[in-house]
Amino acid sequence: MKQILNVNINNYDIVISDDDFSNLMDELLEYTKGQKKLFVISKKVYKIYKTKLNLLDEDVLVLNDGEKEKNFNNYKKILLTAGKKELTRSDVIIAIGGGVVGDIAGFAASTYMRGIDFIQIPTTLLSMVDSSVGGKTAIDMFGLKNIVGTFYQPKKVFININFLKSLSKRQFYSGMAEVLKYAFIEESCGLQHSIFLFEYLTLCQEKIQKQDSLTLIKVIEYCLLLKIAVVNQDEKECGLRKILNLGHTLGHSLEALGKYRKFLHGEAVAQGLFFVFNYAYSKNMITYSYYRLSIDLLNKYGFKNTVFNYKPKKIVEIMKKDKKAEQDAITFIMPADKKRVKEIKLSPDELLELF
Ligand code: GLY
Repeated sequence: MKQILNVNINNYDIVISDDDFSNLMDELLEYTKGQKKLFVISKKVYKIYKTKLNLLDEDVLVLNDGEKEKNFNNYKKILLTAGKKELTRSDVIIAIGGGVVGDIAGFAASTYMRGIDFIQIPTTLLSMVDSSVGGKTAIDMFGLKNIVGTFYQPKKVFININFLKSLSKRQFYSGMAEVLKYAFIEESCGLQHSIFLFEYLTLCQEKIQKQDSLTLIKVIEYCLLLKIAVVNQDEKECGLRKILNLGHTLGHSLEALGKYRKFLHGEAVAQGLFFVFNYAYSKNMITYSYYRLSIDLLNKYGFKNTVFNYKPKKIVEIMKKDKKAEQDAITFIMPADKKRVKEIKLSPDELLELF
């Protein structure tokens, strides 16, 4: 099974398949024929798939896993390796891994010689449905996530769902939080036709949990159709693209307070989703029936609204440092109607009261 989606910006394809790894590599080698390649790959993925992917040691830079690896030193390491391999502007950097590897390799590709070709091969559900598509690249600095980066679209994205077989259950569900996010924003994405992701996720829960191949390909396709619709309208996040941050304002704070070890990204986003639904319902922005359906969907996929012990002041301090925050106004994407969202601003004082 193979699905191909296209992104208008830079006109690139996303191939979603359950092909053998040998076919994936044949397709990749054909696509990059004549180009020198530098594979930047996550250590976990390298250990499991080195032989299956038939990678040559001299073409590979292995990065340790975890958000703390998305740092300046590893960025420099990628540039130095590209320089040592004498990569030119006609060559290519290929990321194989989750969001950390994709973001940092993309940032290196976007700055090396003012930009060389970049290909994404995401291996986690989270990177398949979100970070590998849309061109956000970054490293973390000053204790802040994604604070230095570029918008730089990949040349192609190869999504192969067979990588998910070795993903831990916890990582899989972290990806599902981003999937659920898309269900809550569908009607705001500006897609020509409805895809009914909310309903699909409600009905196909068992198949998704069993990781049925065709169902997973559909889920990834639906999420990416929504993401592509948004990115095509607003590549640089001047307006509409902000809706992809539903659940992320609180989510990013929790990740930072947990020192990027306590919560996986999706787990923190799920808490952010509970927060915005609770807020929206308490302010009569959504009906009880939509509130209930949404909370039930989150619960169905194993997410529970947890109480965390962080000081409200600390949570708000981090929110204030976010790239999207303004002086004394923190931006939240809030549910506004069934599967629709809108932007609102809350002052730090209001937030302190809420927490
Ligand atoms: N991860 C959100 C975005 O790509 O805009």
